[in-house]
Amino acid sequence: MTEKRGSFSGKLGFVMAAAGSAVGLGNIWRFPYLAAEHGGGIFLLVYLVLVLTFGYALMKAEIALGRKTGLSVIGAFKKLNKRWSFLGILAAIVPIVILPYYSVIGGWVCKYFATFVSGGMEQAAQPSFFGDFISQPFEPLGWFLLFLGLTALAVLLGVDKGVEKVSKIMMPVLIVLAIGIAIYSLTLPGAGDGLSYYLVPDFSQFSATTVLAAMGQMFYSMSLAMGIMITYGSYMKKDVNLESSVKQIEFFDTGIAFLAGVMVIVPIFSLGNMDQIKPGPGLMFQSLPMVFNNMGTVGNYVGTLFFVLVMFAALTSSISLMETVVSIFRDKFGWGRKVTCGVVLAICLVLGVPSSLGNGIWSGFQILPGQDFLTFCDFMTNSVLMPIVAFLMCIFVGYIIKPKTLIEEARIGMAEKHIKLYEGTNPVRRFFNSAHITLSRVSAPISHFRREPMFSAMIRYIAPVCIVLILLFSVLSAFDLLKYIGLSV
Ligand code: PHE
Repeated sequence: MTEKRGSFSGKLGFVMAAAGSAVGLGNIWRFPYLAAEHGGGIFLLVYLVLVLTFGYALMKAEIALGRKTGLSVIGAFKKLNKRWSFLGILAAIVPIVILPYYSVIGGWVCKYFATFVSGGMEQAAQPSFFGDFISQPFEPLGWFLLFLGLTALAVLLGVDKGVEKVSKIMMPVLIVLAIGIAIYSLTLPGAGDGLSYYLVPDFSQFSATTVLAAMGQMFYSMSLAMGIMITYGSYMKKDVNLESSVKQIEFFDTGIAFLAGVMVIVPIFSLGNMDQIKPGPGLMFQSLPMVFNNMGTVGNYVGTLFFVLVMFAALTSSISLMETVVSIFRDKFGWGRKVTCGVVLAICLVLGVPSSLGNGIWSGFQILPGQDFLTFCDFMTNSVLMPIVAFLMCIFVGYIIKPKTLIEEARIGMAEKHIKLYEGTNPVRRFFNSAHITLSRVSAPISHFRREPMFSAMIRYIAPVCIVLILLFSVLSAFDLLKYIGLSV
């Protein structure tokens, strides 16, 4: 690679870019319907525990791996240990499979935006609107192509920096709007039932499938187990505090998912016809228009703004997906940017068209029974490939390069923080700064982050064992074999 590697200007740049990749359809579309499908409160609880333990450790490991090697996914593993370069390739398959179906759903969001902009809110609020739309052959395909085209254009023109600037404004607006809509949902009659379903765990609903679904969702939502955070870490400067960046990304990502759950799940209990709305990929598209419609005319504006913001959140994620795929192909085959974009687009068409048509005329085309093509791609990546990649990453970090290597990498930015404090010009601040430095040198000669012991234990023991158990249980339950070992899930 002869091109100079760019880097993010500072911590804010890094956190915003990584959060731009993390916050997307996974939070707003996928999280609420999985929570609704897997018992509400219990799913939320399992999800939160996973994010704070495993998600935290894995995100930190990935970013540190990237920053240490300065390379993206395939190169990073290869550099640290030649025999493990296969893991980079395995991880690289994930974004290639996700991007096409992600664009299909991105297309659905564009359609809803267009419907609201043209005053079609009442129509969109009909329970049958969504099903009628996605089962048509041509219209969803058109929206898919539009979304994919926009993503490709951004990647091709390299305007991702511009997109990032826009998303710096759009993200906070999205958060404020999400809080507003969530509060509105809570004022609807019967909201209490919805809220207690969403917040209060029902332990009788706990199963291996719940944990697997929550784990897959965590990888997906935090853009983990597919090398994206490794690539982002490779652009991160050494003086940026890795620990607090991870915390902030986690906070953003989980906060938006939590709010989306309130916005989407609570109204079903007050406005929805429970027979017509089944938890599934269409949940957000059916629930939110009802909420906006209930607001009266103003709902049209709120809905339009909301869908445009979601469209942007989805675009920042899909751009990061496509960028990753393009850079993997370029590093591997040495192709030019345009040619690579063309090849990636072709792959997206091959996998995206059946994902779109699988909701209608190609619904009979099933690789696993009961799963249309989109659901199949989603299942294969989130519930199979990503857990396997995450497991192997834990083994790699835990036993091959050892957690210490990454802990040391993560400490670098923290030590720099103290040195930086010296640079102030204001005499009063300088005095306090130097006092602070002296004190912290005495009390902690090397900076540590609080969750260090947990990081090692998580990566070496807890996460790998849990992943194997969960995978085993879900495979057994998928083939209905649990009864033979005396268990039922
Ligand atoms: N994390 C993104 C979301 O929640 C999806 C995504 C996955 C983006 C993988 C990039 C890479 O929507």
